[in-house]
This record gives sequence, C-alpha cells and structure tokens, in this order.
Amino acid sequence: MQIIFLGLPGAGKGTQAQTICEDFGIAHVATGDMFRTAKASGSPLGEKLRSYIDFGRLVPDDVTIEIVRERLHQADAQKGFLLDGFPRTIPQAQALDEMLTQMGKPLSHVLYLQVRTEELLTRLTGRRVCAKCGTSYHVAFNPPQHEGICDRCGGVLSQRADDTPEAVAVRLQENLDRTTALAAFYEARGLLTRVNGEEAIGTVYSAIRQTLRGGRS
Ligand code: AP5
Repeated sequence: MQIIFLGLPGAGKGTQAQTICEDFGIAHVATGDMFRTAKASGSPLGEKLRSYIDFGRLVPDDVTIEIVRERLHQADAQKGFLLDGFPRTIPQAQALDEMLTQMGKPLSHVLYLQVRTEELLTRLTGRRVCAKCGTSYHVAFNPPQHEGICDRCGGVLSQRADDTPEAVAVRLQENLDRTTALAAFYEARGLLTRVNGEEAIGTVYSAIRQTLRGGRS
C-alpha cells in the first residue's frame, strides 16, 4: 500500500497518519519530521533547513526530493508507506512518479484532508507535540490526560517553532495554491478521495480507514 495524505498545515495529517500506519503496518514517511530531526542534529544541512522550516517556508524541491528518495529505499518502506507532507509541489509529485515507477510500486490512494483556513489557525496555535515520540495534541480539541505530558510515552509536550501566528500565516500562504494544484493533479488520475477533516478525530479516522479498505468499514 502506497498512500499520500494531502492537506494544508494543521489539517490532521500527522494525527491520522500515526494510527493508520500502525493499523496497516506501513512506514510513516513525514518530511516535516525528517527535517526537524535534521535541524535538531545541528548538522550543516540542519542549519540550512532551520531558515526554511522555522519561518514556514517550503524547503527547496531538490533537497526534499533527495531526502524522500533515500527514505523510500529503507527496509521498513518496502512493505508500504504513507507519505505525510510530500509531495507539496508539482515538481515533487513528478519526481515521486519517477521514483515509484523505478520501484515498481504504484500509488494506491491519495487522501485529501480538507479543513477551512479559519479552523487551521486555531488548531496550529493550540497544538502541543511530544519531544520524544512526536505525538500531536491540542490544548482544547485533543488534550493529554495530564497537562504537558504525553499519554503514549510520558515525554514532555511543547509548541513547535513554526506554530506562531506569524509562521502559520506564511505556511498557509505557501501551501494554499500548491495543495489545490496537487489535488487536481491526482484527481485527474482518479486517485483522489476527499475527506472532511473538520469532523472529530475518530470520525475522520473511520472515513480514512473505510476508503483504504475499499469501502468496507
Ligand atoms: P510539516 O511538519 O509537514 O507541517 P505541516 O504540513 O505544516 O503540517 P502539520 O504537521 O502542521 O499539520 P498536520 O496536518 O500534520 O496536523 P496535525 O495532525 O498535527 O512541515 C513543516 C515544515 O517542513 C514546512 O512548513 C516546510 O518548511 C517543511 N516541509 C515539510 N515537507 C515539505 C515538502 N514536501 N516540501 C518542502 N518543504 C517541506 O494536527 C494539527 C492540530 O490539530 C493538532 O493539535 C491536532 O491535535 C489537532 N487536530 C487534528 N485533527 C483534528 C480534528 N479532526 N479536530 C480537531 N483537532 C484536530
């Protein structure tokens, strides 16, 4: 199974991807997570990435495509993968096509999580993320059982550097037209399924799972 989650920042891609990958036993390939790990390492590449991701700007296509190409050749991705946050541009989508053709692994589904931009600002500024396992919470919509502590692993929750109102505005502007273009790109091939991402987390999850199981619940 080779899946793409399309959606604007805050649409719920990461929240849903974590559970879906566990359910289906496939690798979670999240470019944002990979970039943040590189940034935290303090490497020269990490320092270069900081100037993009902390301010909400897209990382250049050549850097992004190479990171994904390497990741998809790792052992855990051979049994299937879910791409969360990639592709974000048409050149990235075209590069992905070439990679998948070479690997002999066609796309199974592209799920487009749709949420209005007004709602996204509230979601992103209220998000808290576990520093240890990466699980996302929301102070109002999806709070942890104990404030500031991850339910899954006991790690400390904090706010992402790019979840400030200023960086969120840049992220939305960077992604609005590009996401619409990507939806059209995959819709033209009959691969796109639109999911109402404004429903409750459990309802969105059920809709995604039903699509992936070919309509069975
Ligand atoms: P990335 O980490 O991918 O960020 P993003 O796309 O901006 O997506 P988010 O992680 O912010 O949102 P999400 O959809 O995963 O939402 P979540 O589930 O957390 O990328 C970061 C940066 O890296 C980019 O800005 C760019 O610089 C760079 N980058 C990454 N990929 C790139 C690429 N391909 N090309 C170039 N640059 C790239 O949910 C958000 C909040 O809402 C949470 O608090 C959650 O609890 C809550 N929530 C989720 N679902 C619901 C629901 N149904 N109802 C209520 N609340 C909900």
